Amino acid sequence: MNRRTAVAGALALTTGLALTACSPDGVPQLEVTGAFMPQPVSDMAAGFLLVRNNGDVTDRLTSVTSSLSDDVSIHETKDRTMRMVTSFEVPAGGELDLERGGNHIMFTDLKQQPKRGETVSVELHFEKADPIKVDIPVKETTYNPKKQ
Ligand code: CU
Repeated sequence: MNRRTAVAGALALTTGLALTACSPDGVPQLEVTGAFMPQPVSDMAAGFLLVRNNGDVTDRLTSVTSSLSDDVSIHETKDRTMRMVTSFEVPAGGELDLERGGNHIMFTDLKQQPKRGETVSVELHFEKADPIKVDIPVKETTYNPKKQ
């Protein structure tokens, strides 16, 4: 077995273990897509993303941490007013959609202002599933994928 084959084998093994860990009944299977942060214009920023739950158990997004800020919270928007919530549901077989004008991740007291083209690392914490790390791309301030 040459070195390359050994590495491929090790990778296959790792992937197999990861799949096994996510597959048992009663476990949420979460997948994050479409993350973006409009380039902030003040010391506050918002993050948007979609969490898809391919499992058969409902989970909840309970908190978000980031190196960009020590003060990250999750907000819902109702009647154009935003308000902090303690968690968002990620329904079994459904999704949690954080989108412009709606629910979002809120960063305040930014340690620096990220620029378009950079990424912001966050970690999403859930009630049941393991935390998920996401590198959120910074887009132009007016970016809105739903309106393109
Ligand atoms: Cu907010």
